[in-house]
Amino acid sequence: MKISVIGTGYVGLVTATCFADLGNSVIGVDIDDKKINKLKNGVSPIYEQGLTELLAKNLRDGNLEFTTDIKYAVENSNIVYIAVGTPQGETGEADLSYLEAAIADISKYLDHEVIIVNKSTVPVGTGNYVKKILVEKSIDPKMFSVVSNPEFLKEGSAINDFMYPDRVVVGSDKKEALEIIADLYRPITTNIIKTDILSAEMIKYASNAFLATKISFINEISNICDRVGANVKEVAKGMGLDKRIGSKFLNAGIGYGGSCFPKDTLALIDIAKKAGYDFQILNKVVEVNKKQRNIFLEKVIGHCKTLEGKKFAVWGLAFKDNTDDMRESPSLDVIPYLLSKGAEVIAYDPIAVDNAKKLLPSNVKYGSNRYDVLNNCDALLILTDWKEFIEADFNVIGKELKGKVIIDGRNIYSKEKVEGFGIKYIGMGI
Ligand SMILES: NC(=O)c1ccc[n+]([C@@H]2O[C@H](COP(=O)([O-])OP(=O)(O)OC[C@H]3O[C@@H](n4cnc5c(N)ncnc54)[C@H](O)[C@@H]3O)[C@@H](O)[C@H]2O)c1
Repeated sequence: MKISVIGTGYVGLVTATCFADLGNSVIGVDIDDKKINKLKNGVSPIYEQGLTELLAKNLRDGNLEFTTDIKYAVENSNIVYIAVGTPQGETGEADLSYLEAAIADISKYLDHEVIIVNKSTVPVGTGNYVKKILVEKSIDPKMFSVVSNPEFLKEGSAINDFMYPDRVVVGSDKKEALEIIADLYRPITTNIIKTDILSAEMIKYASNAFLATKISFINEISNICDRVGANVKEVAKGMGLDKRIGSKFLNAGIGYGGSCFPKDTLALIDIAKKAGYDFQILNKVVEVNKKQRNIFLEKVIGHCKTLEGKKFAVWGLAFKDNTDDMRESPSLDVIPYLLSKGAEVIAYDPIAVDNAKKLLPSNVKYGSNRYDVLNNCDALLILTDWKEFIEADFNVIGKELKGKVIIDGRNIYSKEKVEGFGIKYIGMGI
C-alpha cells in the first residue's frame, strides 16, 4: 500500500519504518525540518532500539522517504496516518490543535480517495469530529474514510511492540476501509479487533488508565508495606502469579511518568466529566501518582535530615529505561526540589542527558558514566531502571560513595545484597 504518516515522533517514525519494512511504500511527513533532514540522512532524531538499522535498511531499499511537503505526501498515498502529538491541554483535556492542523493540511490536497487513519491518542468522538471538519471544508464524503487505529507500543521496545503486538485495534463505520487497514497488519498478527470508531478510541484510553491504576495500586500497597514491615516485591510476586492479575505493571516505585499515562489519565477524566460522569477511581490514581514522588523525597529527607548543603548522585533521568524521552519524568520533579532546598545534584543517564539539559535547572552537573558521579556524594538516588544500573558493581559504589546509602525509587536491588556490601538500602515498600 502507499502510506503517508503525518508526524514522525516516537509513534509516527516507528509506524512509518515498520510499515515500510512490511513491504509498503511509505512517506513520513513532519513540520519539523530539522527532524526531516536528519531522517533523510538516515539519522534517527530519537533513541529507540533497532530503529537506526531498520531506518537505514528501508531508506536503502527505497520503501521509505521523508518530506516536509504534505502536498506531495497526500497526493502520493491512499492511506494517510495521523501520528501527531495530542498533549495535555490547560484543564487536562487532550489538545487537538496539531491534529486539526494536520486535517486542514490534508483537506487542501485531497484530490483522490484516501483512508485517514488516526493513530494519535484522541478523545472518544474525534473520528466523527474529523469527518465533520472535512465536510465543513467542502470535501465530498465519498473522497475519504476515517479509521481509528490506536497505538499501544512502549518507548524502549517500540519496534518489537509494533511488529509483535498483543492485539491491533481498528475502528470504523466503513467496512471496506476497516478491512484494508486490518490487512496492513495481517503479516504480523491475527489478533485484530475490528470495532466501531468510538469503541476503538475508548479502548486506548481505557487500557492506559487501567495500567496506570495498576501502578498506583501497587504503589499504595508499597506504602502500607513500609508501615507494616512487609516487602512489596514479595507481595507483587505473589499477586502477579495469579493469571487473573498478571505480573506486569506491578512494580512499586516513584510513580509513572512519560508522554502517555499522565496526560491520558487526565484526558479520560475530562472525557468522563464532559459526558456527565465522575471517574472517581481514576481521579485517585492521578492523586496517588503525584503523592508517590513526595514519598520518595520524604525518604531522602528522612535519611539526610536536611537537604541544605547535601550532594546527591542521581542515576537515571529518562522517564523509563531504554529511552531518551524526558516527558513527565520523575527526575523533573525530584531534582528541582532537591536544588531548591540547597542540595547539589550530579546526574548520569546513558542516553537522556542532552534532552534533560533542556529541561532541568542549569546548576545540575552531569557525569559521563555511572561511577564518576558518585564521588563525594551523600547518597545515590535511583530514578530510572536502566540495565547498567541493575548490573552495577557494589564494590565500586561502596568505594566511591561518601555517604554509604542508596535510595532507590525503582526497587531495582535486593536490600540484602546491597547491605551485604556495607551500603544502607532504602527502597519503596521494601
Ligand atoms: N510515545 C508513546 O509511547 C506513545 C504510545 C502510544 C500512543 N502515543 C500517542 O501517539 C501520538 C504521538 O505521540 P509521540 O510520542 O509520537 O509524539 P511526538 O511529540 O514524539 O511526535 C509528534 C510529531 O508530530 C509532528 N507534527 C505536529 N504537527 C504536525 C503537522 N501538522 N504535520 C506534520 N507533523 C506534525 C511533530 O513535529 C512531532 O515530530 C500521541 O497522541 C500520543 O499520545 C504515544
